[in-house]
Amino acid sequence: MSLLIKNARVITAVDDYHADVYCERDRITAIGQDLKMEADQVIDAKGMYLFPGGIDPHTHLDMPFGGTVSADDFETGTRAAAFGGTTTLIDFAIQTKGQSTLAALETWHAKADGKTAIDYGFHMIVTDMEDQRLHEMRQLADAGVTSYKMFMAYPGVLYVDDGTIFRAMRKAGEDGTVVCMHAENGIVIDEIVKRALAEGKTAPKYHALTRPTRMEAEGVHRAIAIAETANVPVYIVHLSCSDALEQVTTARNRGVHAFAETCPQYLFLDYTYYEKEGFEGAKYVMTPALRDKWNQDKLWRGLQFGDLCSISTDHCPFCFKDQKVLGIDSFAKIPNGAPGVENRMALVYNGGVVQGRISLNKYVQLTSTAAAKMFGLFPKKGTIAVGSDADLVVFDPNRTETISVDNPCTHHMNVDYNTYEGFQVQGFPQVVISKGKIIVKDNTYLGNKGDGSFVKRGLYNGLP
Ligand code: URP
Ligand code: ZN
Ligand code: ZN
Repeated sequence: MSLLIKNARVITAVDDYHADVYCERDRITAIGQDLKMEADQVIDAKGMYLFPGGIDPHTHLDMPFGGTVSADDFETGTRAAAFGGTTTLIDFAIQTKGQSTLAALETWHAKADGKTAIDYGFHMIVTDMEDQRLHEMRQLADAGVTSYKMFMAYPGVLYVDDGTIFRAMRKAGEDGTVVCMHAENGIVIDEIVKRALAEGKTAPKYHALTRPTRMEAEGVHRAIAIAETANVPVYIVHLSCSDALEQVTTARNRGVHAFAETCPQYLFLDYTYYEKEGFEGAKYVMTPALRDKWNQDKLWRGLQFGDLCSISTDHCPFCFKDQKVLGIDSFAKIPNGAPGVENRMALVYNGGVVQGRISLNKYVQLTSTAAAKMFGLFPKKGTIAVGSDADLVVFDPNRTETISVDNPCTHHMNVDYNTYEGFQVQGFPQVVISKGKIIVKDNTYLGNKGDGSFVKRGLYNGLP
C-alpha cells in the first residue's frame, strides 16, 4: 500500500516548506520536491497544510466513573478523534484498590484491543502502591506504559495520599517514567462541598463555587514539591487557571522538570456556562471546574511562552439526558467530565492560529509534538519525517464549520450534546491518514474498527 501526497505545505513543530510526501505501508519513506513515485493513491494537497496527526494525551474512554461509564468506548471515541484530526490518543487504565496494576492493564487492553480507529497508549492510574507492588512499575514500563496518573482529588474514589504519591513517584523516577497529576486539594474541597450541600446549594454552578482556584494551586505546588524530592518529571494534567499556572512557572524557573497541559474547555469556556438556565450547567461539570474568563489570557500566555507545554482534551463524555441527570438533586452527583476529543484540533487552530495567538509551528507543537516527546512516542509520532509513522492530516485552512451536535461534520462522539455548541471555526481537517491509510476523507469514514493498535511507549527522554 502506498500513498503520495502532492503539493503540500508541510508544517511540523519546526519546519514549514512545500513538498510531496510519500508513504509506504505505515511509514513515511520519502519527502521531496516533485516526487515521481508511482503510488496506489494520490492526494493533491495544493492550498492545504500537512500536519502530523494530532496526539491527545488525555482521554477517558469506557471509563467507570461517577456511578456510570463514560459514553464513548474505544470504538466510538477513537473514530470521533479521527474525524477531528487526532491519530493517536493516550487513555487511562485504572488500578482498583488492592489490584495488581498488571491485571488492570489487561482489563484495559481487553476494552480497546481490536476496536480502535487510531493508535493508542495507556497511562496507568494508580490508586494504591504498597511496597510489595512497586516492582510492577518496571514491568509496566517494559510493557510500554511509561507514565502514571495519580489524583489528589476525589477522596474515597481515585484519591491517593501524599505518602503513596511519594512512593510511586520515587520508583517512577528510578525507572525513567513520568507522573501525571490531577492536582487539586480534594480533602479541603470535600469539606466545602459538604457545607454547600448542607446549606441547600445543589445547582450545577456550586460545582465550580466549591472548588477554589487556590486549591488547584495548592495541589500543583504540592505535586511539584513531592516530585522534585522524588526526582521524577511531573506533568500536571488539565491545568485550568492562573493561580495554578503561577506554581508551574515558579518551579520551572528554578529548573524543576515540571510540565503542564491545559485543555480547550479552559481556553474557550468560563464560569458563566454554569449559570445557563435550568440544569444546562451540568453539561460543563468537569474537574477542575471552568474558571472566570480572565484566566484564559493567562493560559494562552502560558502556552505562548512554554510553561504550558501541550493541549489535551480530558475527553470524558456523559450524556446529558441519561447520565448528567444523576445529579439533578445535587451537583456532587453529576458525573464529572465533558466531551471534546473530536473538536480539539479545529478549536485550537481557530483560537490559536487564526486569532493570531500562536504560530503554525507552535500549533503542531501543542497538539502533537510535545505530547509525543513527553510520553515516549517521538519521532515515531508527532512529526513528519522519513521513518516516522504516516499519521498525517491534510488540513484546509479556509474551511469553516459551526460546531454542533447536529452538524455531521463536527460531531461523531457518542454523546447527546457538544461542549462547544455554536462555536464557529475556520480551518478543518480534510483528509486524515493513520499509518498510511486514509481513514477520513471529506467527512466520510474510510477506516475499519481495529485499524489502530496499542503503541508501546518509550521512557522519558529529557525536555520536550
Ligand atoms: O471531570 C473530569 N476531568 N473527569 C475526568 C476525570 C479526571 O479528573 O480527569
Ligand atoms: Zn483529572
Ligand atoms: Zn482526565
